[in-house]
Amino acid sequence: MIVFNEVSKIYHMGDEVVKALDKASIHIRQGEFVSIIGPSGSGKSTLMNIVGCLDTADEGEYFLDGLSIKKYSEKSLAMIRNKKIGFIFQNFNLIMTMTAEENVELPLIYQGISMNERKARVKEALEMVDLYSRRKHTPNQMSGGQQQRVAIARAMASKPSLFLADEPTGNLDQATGKQIMDIFRSLHEQGNTIVLITHDENVAKQADRSIKIMDGKVYDESLKEEKAPEESEAATPSEKPEEKKPEEETRQSRKEGAEA
Ligand SMILES: Nc1ncnc2c1ncn2[C@@H]1O[C@H](COP(=O)(O)OP(=O)(O)OP(=O)(O)O)[C@@H](O)[C@H]1O
Ligand SMILES: [Mg+2]
Repeated sequence: MIVFNEVSKIYHMGDEVVKALDKASIHIRQGEFVSIIGPSGSGKSTLMNIVGCLDTADEGEYFLDGLSIKKYSEKSLAMIRNKKIGFIFQNFNLIMTMTAEENVELPLIYQGISMNERKARVKEALEMVDLYSRRKHTPNQMSGGQQQRVAIARAMASKPSLFLADEPTGNLDQATGKQIMDIFRSLHEQGNTIVLITHDENVAKQADRSIKIMDGKVYDESLKEEKAPEESEAATPSEKPEEKKPEEETRQSRKEGAEA
């Protein structure tokens, strides 16, 4: 689903060159629960921004659902961000003047979803994070853990298949952090892909596997177990018609969905 082939991101600060990502290769499969762990400044957020199509690589290639990101139109990328990916951030990014239910509903309004459908989705998402009874509260009337649960509900309401979370428990105590991790676990059990960024070993090990990042260099152990997955992932059906695999069909239909 997510394949990085030697992706680099380079920042120039005056004379100084910062390689925020240095030939990073990763392979995250559909339905995996993966943590990305590394110290401050190691390139975690840079990586997440590229995975989430909020930023682009300077070198190397990123394949999402088997297709190079360069091949997606701007419109498709915007649709992927809105519908396929649910973002969750350390500082929750809620609108302080809106209630929990308004925060959850807002992206659905932008997506042109009907009012009845919006109401149903808001209810379902807030129930899932056990906050429906607090739906009329604004963020400053809620604890940090509750605010983060609203942010997760907001991400869920768009029904994405990929959740990207950047230090979602970074501002929370351990017990509250655990509640948040339990929600990610149930989202994973529903078949979603979860990529969770953290600097905390205890958080990282709650995922099914961890990818380490250090000074922009990534160590994805799963790439050692199989030979160059990006070669087969990268191939479009027209390039390799004789190697049509079962997942080809779903990938193709997803691709069509992305371009619709
Ligand atoms: N817009 C930018 N301009 C210049 N340098 C940047 C920019 N964004 C990130 N960097 C640099 O790239 C490196 C990686 O930054 P990044 O934000 O990805 O780290 P991080 O692992 O998310 O750190 P933290 O845990 O503190 O959030 C750092 O050295 C940072 O200073
Ligand atoms: Mg960061």
